[in-house]
Amino acid sequence: MKTSILGPLYEVRHSSIHGYGVFALRKIRKGTRVIEYTGERINHQVADTRYEDKDSNDNHTFLFTVDKRTVIDGGVDGNEARFINHGCDPNCESATVNRRVYISAIKTIAPGEELAYDYSIQRDADDEPDVDVVFACRCGAAACRGSMLEPKKEPRRRTVRSVLKSSRKRPPHRARKSKSHARFRQPIARR
Ligand SMILES: C[S@@+](CC[C@H](N)C(=O)[O-])C[C@H]1O[C@@H](n2cnc3c(N)ncnc32)[C@H](O)[C@@H]1O
Ligand SMILES: [Zn+2]
Repeated sequence: MKTSILGPLYEVRHSSIHGYGVFALRKIRKGTRVIEYTGERINHQVADTRYEDKDSNDNHTFLFTVDKRTVIDGGVDGNEARFINHGCDPNCESATVNRRVYISAIKTIAPGEELAYDYSIQRDADDEPDVDVVFACRCGAAACRGSMLEPKKEPRRRTVRSVLKSSRKRPPHRARKSKSHARFRQPIARR
């Protein structure tokens, strides 16, 4: 728990977005590194199998992709960072520094405000057509895009340069869905 001489910076409590959330107890200035996203560090193969038995309509995980090798499972030995919800117009962002993930304020946050960062969960080629329904966003922002997944990419003309550039690109850090969500999903009714 991050504290200062004035006491703790945030607390975990029920959120109107989903389940528990993290709320500022004091003003958090833009640029403050609020918390490290901790948990068990596993590889992608383990992450894919770990939540295989979950109901395929249940999008809830505490997985966070660090890079091609590593995923953090905040559900095992994790801290309060695992309760920070997704927001489409967020006041925080995640960043990876030396293969560790930190959540920092990108706006000055008032006491009582819920902390949120954009999960931008990766879209996969084998996602079911209802993937945006399963990962529906309830952040309530005026600019809510309706989904916790990364925005859909517009089809672009591929040049040799753009293909080379994308093949060099490492996967960005971000919240991660388990593979079972991409493969075994049943259609569900919109809530
Ligand atoms: C890392 S947890 C965040 C903490 C969560 N609220 C809890 O109580 O465990 C991520 C999960 O919270 C839910 N969630 C987070 N942000 C959301 C949002 N904006 N809309 C809908 N569900 C959200 C999703 O189920 C997501 O998989
Ligand atoms: Zn939203």
